[in-house]
Amino acid sequence: MILSVVPLVTIVLSLFAVPSFAGLNMNYAPYANEFIEPSYILNKNWTNTTIVSQGSIIQWANSLALLGPWSVTASKTILAPSNNSHDYLSWAPYYWPNCTGVGNTTALTPQQMWVTCPYVMVDGVFNPDIGTINNAPAFETMASAVLFNTIAWVITGTPKYSTNVASWINTWFLNSSTYMNPNLNYAQMARGPGYNVRLGDHTGVLDLKCMTKIVSAVLVLRAGNAPGWTSAIDAGLVNWTTSYIGWLTTSPVALNESIAPNNHGSFYYTQLSSLQILVNDTAGASASIHKYFSTTYLNQINATGEQPFEMIRTRPYHYRSYNLCAMITNARIASHLGFSAWNLPTASGAIIKTALDFTMTVPPGNELAAELYPNVGAGAAVYGDPSGTYAKFLSTVQPNYPANPWFFYDQPFSDSGWVAVHAGGLGAETPGAALASQTAAPLSIATPTSTHAPSTDGTGAVVNSAGARILVGTNGQLFVGVAALVLLHAFIV
Ligand SMILES: *[C@@H]1O[C@H](CO)[C@@H](O)[C@H](O)[C@H]1NC(C)=O
Ligand SMILES: *[C@@H]1O[C@H](CO)[C@@H](O)[C@H](O)[C@H]1NC(C)=O
Ligand SMILES: *[C@@H]1O[C@H](CO)[C@@H](O)[C@H](O)[C@H]1NC(C)=O
Ligand SMILES: *[C@@H]1O[C@H](CO)[C@@H](O)[C@H](O)[C@H]1NC(C)=O
Ligand SMILES: *[C@@H]1O[C@H](CO)[C@@H](O)[C@H](O)[C@H]1NC(C)=O
Ligand SMILES: *[C@@H]1O[C@H](CO)[C@@H](O)[C@H](O)[C@H]1NC(C)=O
Ligand SMILES: *[C@@H]1O[C@H](CO)[C@@H](O)[C@H](O)[C@H]1NC(C)=O
Ligand SMILES: *[C@@H]1O[C@H](CO)[C@@H](O)[C@H](O)[C@H]1NC(C)=O
Ligand SMILES: *[C@@H]1O[C@H](CO)[C@@H](O)[C@H](O)[C@H]1NC(C)=O
Ligand SMILES: *[C@@H]1O[C@H](CO)[C@@H](O)[C@H](O)[C@H]1NC(C)=O
Repeated sequence: MILSVVPLVTIVLSLFAVPSFAGLNMNYAPYANEFIEPSYILNKNWTNTTIVSQGSIIQWANSLALLGPWSVTASKTILAPSNNSHDYLSWAPYYWPNCTGVGNTTALTPQQMWVTCPYVMVDGVFNPDIGTINNAPAFETMASAVLFNTIAWVITGTPKYSTNVASWINTWFLNSSTYMNPNLNYAQMARGPGYNVRLGDHTGVLDLKCMTKIVSAVLVLRAGNAPGWTSAIDAGLVNWTTSYIGWLTTSPVALNESIAPNNHGSFYYTQLSSLQILVNDTAGASASIHKYFSTTYLNQINATGEQPFEMIRTRPYHYRSYNLCAMITNARIASHLGFSAWNLPTASGAIIKTALDFTMTVPPGNELAAELYPNVGAGAAVYGDPSGTYAKFLSTVQPNYPANPWFFYDQPFSDSGWVAVHAGGLGAETPGAALASQTAAPLSIATPTSTHAPSTDGTGAVVNSAGARILVGTNGQLFVGVAALVLLHAFIV
């Protein structure tokens, strides 16, 4: 059926049903990345089983909007070594200072510690002092807000969603007091001797992978002539992006990321190809996506479906799901460019589906199992689910899976009959206008699992400042109160 702008009488009637409906929605989770074919959103030819997922999108859009606007300059107490507040800054998340050899560390200010103590990598264990700079989580949250508010605009027809998106883009990229310089020269910087004269690590390019969500949204705003999406903002963003693509394709930092053999290399091409689409460089985007699928991709999946570069990490379930998301997003971008990558074999003869099917058999251990689920929906929609394997898997691990925002665009895919039973007849209406007027719910972010806890890496090598002084966070007090941020970072590195 075709959902269209709801007449006022329907809006009023729907309000009665909203409370029970709202109870079906999902807690917010930042998806690793997303690229949605814009015509799917704009054509509004959505099946009625997506109705609860539409409500979830609107709730996430409303809740995320409360957190904006975002910028690299906001509340910035620590500047990049350039001293320029417009330079994006983040610190390498898994690096810890080892001050054993430098004498009395209580006499060191944090700034002295950054240039004095060697920093040692402990894979998978976040140094909570990354939370003293909020550029990375701010960008991550903005990208989700941009994507979900854009879709909410289409579902509801309410202009505030798209005008909000336009103003957030203006603040992050264009406004003369808050813009970000178009480079990542100071992303995921490793500290230690030389910090002040170094550039960031190539891994920091990953910090902006969710540019793909923004591109996905902008294609919809553009083609839909969205309220607030002015030609000045579009041209400004294209100009910014053109400069940034220049950096992404020539700087030594970015070029090192382009040859990273694992998820970093996969996400590099997600970012580059989508940005080339944004600036209408279709030939460049096609060249980038072909390059990915003829180089880095070839070594991502072995014949069994294992991802050799991700299984060796300390959080292998997270990294398998994460790289799978990158490969799926790259294949979606390829499809948008008219080239199907879904059945392209790796050097071992596996395809993306092989990796998905294998990962579904791996126990998550104490990692966040739900990180895989959007990939299951994406796979089901693309490869089909004739024997119901994907629907059965999700029904078992997350019975309300049709309430996930991803269920809205990962279609066609069965809802296992869940929506008709749980949404109690609401399937005949659009929830959009009713939910658009609803008060936004506070964001609910799950608590970190024990593998993410910052106090130990499981080998006892890391202790906080109260313990033996082997490796300590720069600000011991930050061990408290950053749990949500640590979890957010779990999705972005
Ligand atoms: C709408 O989607 C259905 C499948 O859900 C398809 O059969 C139909 O052709 C589509 N209609 C239009 C106008 O695209
Ligand atoms: C940044 O500021 C610090 C402290 O004032 C100074 O030591 C350093 O030389 C400055 N760096 C640059 C690149 O200007
Ligand atoms: C910390 O540095 C000391 C030397 O100052 C070294 O002996 C020790 O191995 C280092 N610890 C780690 C975990 O790197
Ligand atoms: C370490 O430095 C602090 C601050 O200067 C000082 O109060 C303390 O006595 C020093 N500790 C030792 C063991 O020297
Ligand atoms: C730019 O941002 C500043 C600081 O938030 C704000 O005061 C100003 O109105 C903005 N200018 C424009 C043109 O949006
Ligand atoms: C284009 O972007 C550059 C930064 O990359 C900026 O200096 C310039 O002012 C921008 N021009 C326009 C017209 O927005
Ligand atoms: C890029 O990688 C090479 C080889 O590992 C390294 O020598 C170089 O310092 C890196 N450059 C940057 C800017 O990270
Ligand atoms: C985009 O590029 C195509 C050629 O690849 C051209 O026909 C079209 O006019 C361009 N659109 C814009 C908005 O620049
Ligand atoms: C894939 O990798 C896993 C882990 O190294 C290994 O157990 C398996 O045998 C490999 N499969 C193939 C076909 O190489
Ligand atoms: C969707 O529409 C079909 C056909 O009108 C109906 O049979 C089905 O119950 C509806 N599903 C939901 C979830 O409302």
